[in-house]
Amino acid sequence: MDKIIIEGGQTRLDGEVVIEGAKNAVLPLLAATILPKSGKTILRNVPILSDVFTMNNVVRGLGISVEFNEDDKEITVDATSDILDVAPYEYVSKMRASIVVLGPILARNGHAKVSMPGGCTIGSRPIDLHLKGLEAMGAKITQLGGDITAEAEKLHGAHIYMDFPSVGATQNLMMAATLAEGVTTIENAAREPEIVDLAILLNEMGAQVRGAGTETLVITGVDSLHGAEHDVVQDRIEAGTFMVAAAMTSGNVLIKDAVWEHNRPLISKLMEMGVSVTEEENGIRVQAELDNLRPVTVKTLPHPGFPTDMQAQFTALMAIVKGESTMIETVFENRFQHLEEMRRMGLHSEILRDTALIHGGHDLQGAPVMSTDLRASAALILTGLVANGTTIVGKLTHLDRGYYQFHEKLAKLGANIRRVSEA
Ligand code: EPU
Repeated sequence: MDKIIIEGGQTRLDGEVVIEGAKNAVLPLLAATILPKSGKTILRNVPILSDVFTMNNVVRGLGISVEFNEDDKEITVDATSDILDVAPYEYVSKMRASIVVLGPILARNGHAKVSMPGGCTIGSRPIDLHLKGLEAMGAKITQLGGDITAEAEKLHGAHIYMDFPSVGATQNLMMAATLAEGVTTIENAAREPEIVDLAILLNEMGAQVRGAGTETLVITGVDSLHGAEHDVVQDRIEAGTFMVAAAMTSGNVLIKDAVWEHNRPLISKLMEMGVSVTEEENGIRVQAELDNLRPVTVKTLPHPGFPTDMQAQFTALMAIVKGESTMIETVFENRFQHLEEMRRMGLHSEILRDTALIHGGHDLQGAPVMSTDLRASAALILTGLVANGTTIVGKLTHLDRGYYQFHEKLAKLGANIRRVSEA
């Protein structure tokens, strides 16, 4: 099991950091590559992450050719032969995001069997909105033995109102609707930049998707889709993680190619705290002086609200800013587990249902800690940068799902951090 070891306390991050393509964009983009019956699809700027390898295997399991050229960060998918229609438990249990293959397989084959994803450490994460939407488009859904079977010789357009703007449900339904008969309208759709990126690829494939990035998507079904070439959007959460790291260490970091618009909710909270965030020609510069920062209140919401995927990292910053900060988590019901670990490092905090009160500014000390999910692992590493002494972060499988060369990038910026393998 690998561990990350950090000698913290004196670090001031300084320099430039390069951001990868977004994990949460490339996973649904890979699901979309199932749709075209003609031509190859080429995805560029693909991050080298374990979740991407898992999704490649899900797509390969359907009998589709997937080649990942890691040197060029490029994936080529050829789905022109007939495809199978089963996504097995082996992969879905590893990564719940693989549920987004349900819509594309069904739309292409008229039949799909995908294992039901279980709960996860950050919440129960049901998929009722995915299934209700597909049913509205004419699919017959059955659940048996842990599998979901969806059948519809031809999906038809529908008017769908989503109770909550679920990212995954919006993606699943948007992909299914591209090959449905007639027009599908999805109201209260998710508006994340990753939704926009998926709509761009689908349109490059010949689909007719309008309104991506707004709360109403209108998709006019077409007879068939073809392969396309596409650059994956930059990872706003990786960029945001480095912004917070710079602020926590009183640093001065240029986050190259980060997109201001995608990080607006985070940037506005950093500025409210007193962090300097400026747009430069080739990225976003973050500078801070910890002693001058003020506590804030943050509430996570679907985009364009503050992203839940930045909540853990931001609480690490709140922990070292003098005064009382408040974090309200409204998207997932169990996403404060990192605070329990951070308490082992001297954090003073209280959790009441969806609200964490952080009494910031107490001295933190390094300690052995365990990451509980992907973003928690990043938050613990950032806390290790500012805690006095040695922090050892374990369970790095979570980190490897979503951050490419995280410790190398921090080391390049001046952190005293290394990764060790232990039998
Ligand atoms: N929800 C339902 N029913 C559904 C679908 C969702 O009740 O049918 C609820 C969930 O239980 C949750 C909320 O809606 O409480 C949000 O879930 P959503 O479907 O929007 O999330 P997701 O598609 O499962 C994606 C990201 C997550 C990110 C969320 C929210 C990917 C692969 N994953 O998940 O990313 O937190 O959107 O922005 O895109 C991460 O990267 O660390 C991560 C967890």
